Amino acid sequence: MYVAIMGYGTVGSGVAEVLKKNHAHIVKKSLQDSLELKYILDLRTFPGDPNESLVTDDFNKILSDPEVKIVVETMGGLKPAYDFVLACLNAGKSVVTSNKELVAAKGIELLEAAKANNVNFLFEASVGGGIPIIRPIIQCLSANKITEVAGILNGTTNYILTRMFSDGADFEDALADAQELGYAERDPSADVDGIDACRKICILADLCFGKEVKPDSFSTEGIRDITKTDVKYAEAWGGVIKLVASAKAVNGGRNVSVCVSPALISGESQLACVSGVFNAILVRGNALGDAVFYGRGAGKLPTASAVVADVIDCARHLGRRKPFGWVKSPEGYVLPDDEFKGKFFVRCDSSFEEIADTFGKVEYINIEDPPENEKAFITPMITKGDLNKKCETLREVKSVIRVTDY
Ligand code: HSE
Repeated sequence: MYVAIMGYGTVGSGVAEVLKKNHAHIVKKSLQDSLELKYILDLRTFPGDPNESLVTDDFNKILSDPEVKIVVETMGGLKPAYDFVLACLNAGKSVVTSNKELVAAKGIELLEAAKANNVNFLFEASVGGGIPIIRPIIQCLSANKITEVAGILNGTTNYILTRMFSDGADFEDALADAQELGYAERDPSADVDGIDACRKICILADLCFGKEVKPDSFSTEGIRDITKTDVKYAEAWGGVIKLVASAKAVNGGRNVSVCVSPALISGESQLACVSGVFNAILVRGNALGDAVFYGRGAGKLPTASAVVADVIDCARHLGRRKPFGWVKSPEGYVLPDDEFKGKFFVRCDSSFEEIADTFGKVEYINIEDPPENEKAFITPMITKGDLNKKCETLREVKSVIRVTDY
């Protein structure tokens, strides 16, 4: 049986490497007589690469070759990935992807095309890199009603925040180091502005709650505004700040409350000790309670590990479908940002009396040598809409960061 890879970047070349490195083992696991890489689609050439002879810039070679039963998409982006993946599914080929943008934006259409053609569309690597999370949600936890899913879904921002806490680095220096180490792109926006985490939480919410959550249907905030002073307060409180993506079923499951933003996490939380480029995903089920999945959320071989596992699964299920998916959501399914409910960390220059008048009883956090006149505190439970209104009455609000309860 033959496989093709579309996109020979970091993940695509990792897939080729794992297919070669563990070849005999993979063939055996896939229950096939053979499993060989036949084409690599890329516009670039790779002189001297061991797979140089397999590289083509002609997509139609893959599409029209009946021997290619499984296609791996590691190109990233929507164009031309969506058209190519759809064409492969319609041609009766199973497709495996690591492309979170594609799954978050076009998952329903592609899963429908897979169903119509009796093939599989699998994407374990699209969330959490090498961490098994898609299968646990759709298979192992299927006896549960999942009430919440939340996690540290972006390695680059977690590396930056870890450096800000462990070395006292400021955001710009930590970002520069992340770029030098190859974690962050030269344009780091998808990571530091939360866009990558936003796509991943959409996929998790789709799977956990069965209805589509679109990436632009809720608030996404990155970590650019986190300062060294915020870090000092978080430490004084006994916690850390992480970029947290979360989705929670509310109103008896009729709605979902979704958010990507920096969050204050208690030092006792299992998510607090997730450092560097590692990811962790917490799934809260009504029978299991909390389960946390931890590991390498990015990188060549960890991500390839998940992609190749999907290739093996496709090979084992040739001619049979793994039935899972989600449906379009009704208007108003995703709760408006103003209705997001939680506790919040606030820094401002108002007096104790003004703060008490505005919020009632709050939990103050003290640091050594705080900026003059500044007070920092944690609010009671409040909706974001009410919080924003109250913050308008405070003096010099410098930070507002949500506080998690996990
Ligand atoms: N850029 C992502 C991260 C990896 O830093 O986690 C791919 O999703």
